[in-house]
Amino acid sequence: MRTVADLESELGGFGGRRVMVRSDLNVPLDGPRITDDGRIRASLPTIAALAAAGARVVVCAHLGRPKGADPAFSLAPVGRRLAELLHRPVSQAGDVSGPSARAVVAALADGEVALLENVRFAAGETSNDPDTAAALAALVDGYVGDAFGAMHRAHASTVGVPARRPHAAGALVRSEVNVLRRLTDSPARPYVVVLGGAKVSDKLAVLGRLVQRADRILVGGGMCFTFLAAQGHDVGGSLLQRDQLDAVRALLRDAEGRGVQIVLPVDVVASAGLDDPNCQTVDADAIPADLMGLDIGPRSAQLFAERLADARLVFWNGPMGVFEQPRFAAGTRQVAQAIAGLRDGAGDQDEDQRAFTVVGGGDSAAAIRVLGVAEDRFGHISTGGGASLEYLEGRELPGLAALA
Ligand code: 3PG
Repeated sequence: MRTVADLESELGGFGGRRVMVRSDLNVPLDGPRITDDGRIRASLPTIAALAAAGARVVVCAHLGRPKGADPAFSLAPVGRRLAELLHRPVSQAGDVSGPSARAVVAALADGEVALLENVRFAAGETSNDPDTAAALAALVDGYVGDAFGAMHRAHASTVGVPARRPHAAGALVRSEVNVLRRLTDSPARPYVVVLGGAKVSDKLAVLGRLVQRADRILVGGGMCFTFLAAQGHDVGGSLLQRDQLDAVRALLRDAEGRGVQIVLPVDVVASAGLDDPNCQTVDADAIPADLMGLDIGPRSAQLFAERLADARLVFWNGPMGVFEQPRFAAGTRQVAQAIAGLRDGAGDQDEDQRAFTVVGGGDSAAAIRVLGVAEDRFGHISTGGGASLEYLEGRELPGLAALA
């Protein structure tokens, strides 16, 4: 991938140059309130370094999946937070590449920062429409791709603009790729993967690849019920993807043939529904018909912690339960704490005796912060959910390829 230094020499220095930074500022919002600003903070180094080098920085990002220019998806709250974190003003355009964007960019002085409106307000963004890409490219002289979380999208702002302008990979993208390489190229062993999240269908492709690399895979979250059902257990009213049962059975056979342990919950916290105030812990292999599992239970959390204890490399993606509700958050918290505990041990551990731990995915990263587990106890918290999974699957990420 081309570096920012390559771009600087190609542009003859950044002074007087307008440089687009494609960041992933897709943060969770509660109305106008940002509930987790991790992705904004992770995007700061590249933006700040370009501004310090004298570039006129034009930040481009998406928020959510709006249908058209829906004001509920405006980047305005993100721009305000970005300005606070950068300790400098951020001028905000009212459109993506129209008159407002052109005026805001034209008014930038060296070292100043502007933010375009949600790039998905442009109809041709997600289809990588040539006119949309050309209109974005026309705003700037160079491009820095730093939106690691959106690198698996072949959109106008991730591949169309770098195809039209001198480009480079930003600091966040470089550090994410360096870390993910540690999970793919000769991983340290035991390599333990913890996977959760709702749908097994979203994770089957990466599971197929992880079975070839990991020593143990611990499965929680909504997806564990399809595994339990594939083993013949009754999962009651829990989330079950019947159409994935055969694929999960094939995966279990593959894992067994390779000597890879797939560890499933032994108990779950179950309720008649998300709105039902009653919940109880039941055995995972016999969930009553009128209950659905919404978190892994305490014995499962203990089992997962034991199976993590000797790990030298850990990748965790996806919460263990509906952690947004405190009564279903314990499983995710305990697993997060078990992984966090691998890093600093008793304080007298050799650096090389510690596990390198990677948290991949917007949801698990948000869970750590929401549940108050210290971020510095993890080796790396990735900003990319789908992007890190596709990378681990071995697929080419179009946004990364565009930065070569
Ligand atoms: C993410 O949240 O994973 C990235 O920002 C990409 O968003 P998308 O899945 O809507 O493309």
